[in-house]
Amino acid sequence: MPAKLAVLISGRGRNLEAIAAACADGRIQGEIVRVISSRADAGGLAFAQAQGLPTAIVPSKDYADRAAYDAALAGQLREDAPDIVVLAGFMRILTPAFVAEWLGRMVNIHPSLLPRHPGLQTHRRALDAGDREHGATVHFVTAELDGGPAIIQGQLNVRAEDTPDTLADRVMQDIELKIYPQAIAWLARGELALRDGVVRYRGQVLTAPLGPAAMDAGFL
Ligand code: GRF
Repeated sequence: MPAKLAVLISGRGRNLEAIAAACADGRIQGEIVRVISSRADAGGLAFAQAQGLPTAIVPSKDYADRAAYDAALAGQLREDAPDIVVLAGFMRILTPAFVAEWLGRMVNIHPSLLPRHPGLQTHRRALDAGDREHGATVHFVTAELDGGPAIIQGQLNVRAEDTPDTLADRVMQDIELKIYPQAIAWLARGELALRDGVVRYRGQVLTAPLGPAAMDAGFL
């Protein structure tokens, strides 16, 4: 049985596209049962509709506070009953109650080498800090923003001529679009688990995030 995925987006949806492609060609043993967007004008929503994926819009602007928003989101997800909730550029901070319901079954990708640079503007901050390496991290979602246990990380060398935009493009193309489908493939196959705050990969406790060496050829 393919794992049921709900993918939550707010923007262009490049990660969504990579995940949908990996589901379509069998690299992820999964099926996207819903794409939920926090914005009606998200590029990723148009992509999902064009692909015939089931979509829903839970618009940020319609809810007075985080609790009300997350209650609406929880209602949609209970209807869809996914096995895995995938945050793919979903630009909202989630409440602890919402996170608790999906603990161990919800993942996020963050464009930095966590724990460096949680939050926004990661590429600019990496440049400002003079970082020589930068990258992206897939992690389980906990109540701490961008603070959940890491699953896989990919890194690249920062170039002297890099701007936040060039860095963002390389992190997206060379890292995010590869490591996120890979992490979801592992999750869908039941090869990743979060227990007592610790990630296990194929039964072994991870003491550091996995890297490209662990990846299947189809994802590199
Ligand atoms: C990505 O950089 C992701 O890491 C961040 O938001 C961006 C989303 O891009 N959280 P897209 O919507 O997948 O194109």
